[in-house]
Amino acid sequence: MNVAVIGLGAGRGHLRGYSESQDARVLAIADIDERRLASNAEQFHIPQVYKDYKEMLKVPEIEAVSVCLPNDLHASVSIDVLNAGKHVLVEKPMARSAAEAEAMVAAAAVNRKTVAVSMNYRWAFGLEPHYLKHLITQGTLGSIYYVKTISLRRYTFPRGYTTWFSVKARSGGGGLIDMGPHMLDLAMWLAGDFSPIQVSGVTRTAIMTDTDVDDLASGLIRMKGGATILMESTWATFTRSAMSVTVFGTQGGAILDLNAPQGQRLTLFSEDGSARFETTPMDIRLSEQPDASVQEHFVRSIRAGRQPENAGECGLAVMRVIDAIYQSSATGRDVVIEGE
Ligand SMILES: NC(=O)c1ccc[n+]([C@@H]2O[C@H](COP(=O)([O-])OP(=O)(O)OC[C@H]3O[C@@H](n4cnc5c(N)ncnc54)[C@H](O)[C@@H]3O)[C@@H](O)[C@H]2O)c1
Repeated sequence: MNVAVIGLGAGRGHLRGYSESQDARVLAIADIDERRLASNAEQFHIPQVYKDYKEMLKVPEIEAVSVCLPNDLHASVSIDVLNAGKHVLVEKPMARSAAEAEAMVAAAAVNRKTVAVSMNYRWAFGLEPHYLKHLITQGTLGSIYYVKTISLRRYTFPRGYTTWFSVKARSGGGGLIDMGPHMLDLAMWLAGDFSPIQVSGVTRTAIMTDTDVDDLASGLIRMKGGATILMESTWATFTRSAMSVTVFGTQGGAILDLNAPQGQRLTLFSEDGSARFETTPMDIRLSEQPDASVQEHFVRSIRAGRQPENAGECGLAVMRVIDAIYQSSATGRDVVIEGE
């Protein structure tokens, strides 16, 4: 499949993912930064470069486009791509708000194209996340009633240094909208439930006081299927950095530590009536091998005529939770997510 990438910061990860896949060929890249265009075209042997992405969208051979731009451009550019009759893989967060994400899902439906969100954490940490998902799906952990995710950053941005990331009007928020999508997506994916119904949340700008974005976010999310998700996401804290998902099942539990080296990321907890077990699965071989990257999954799903597992509806569910955490924090009340 002929693909293109707009935005060459995180977009370089997409260039890598596509170029390592047998199923994709990067035909074109677009960026307003000419140096980034030239260096990436050379490194990845890309035949066409564009300063104006709208010119690139006129190329009929391009079937799908990764949108890797600052958050304030995700919705408008993705909708341009969908209206040009091409599929979209957009970086996380899907947009700055659920309303923008809804418009993207609607544009995909009208144009009969796919919009997927680059929830690369499902694929980027080796086989351990997929093995855990497999155990949960086959019932080994029993019923999943609670999932706790943390994403804590020790350091702060240097004072006086701001990018679009720390300007709320451009990014939509701070630690919550930046790291929250990865962790909420992992939690909902593992719980097998993308229908949040009620959210209580708190956000603070406690340390990064030279910005208008949150450096702490905490949310308690009740899911339609009965599970509860607890999430903490920070951009700056005086504590240890950490990134993990803890799964509580009625027959067993698991900790997925994304900061641990490959092979040591997953710990499983169980008991057999006589003893308690704490095990680290090694040398994982799944009968169904997951795709190598989110880019490969996106391209293969489209080629097979399937909805990708990271379809826009998942990104929209994440954005509904993020909106609700900000709203709950502002009002001091729980937020009920309608229509779920
Ligand atoms: N999935 C991940 O692990 C991950 C990691 C990092 C960033 N991201 C996401 O990727 C997105 C981009 O972040 P980044 O760190 O690459 O930002 P960045 O600012 O480093 O890069 C953005 C790029 O977009 C280009 N650009 C800006 N406006 C443009 C326009 N109108 N037309 C064409 N090009 C334009 C810029 O020149 C720049 O090269 C964000 O949404 C971010 O949240 C995801």
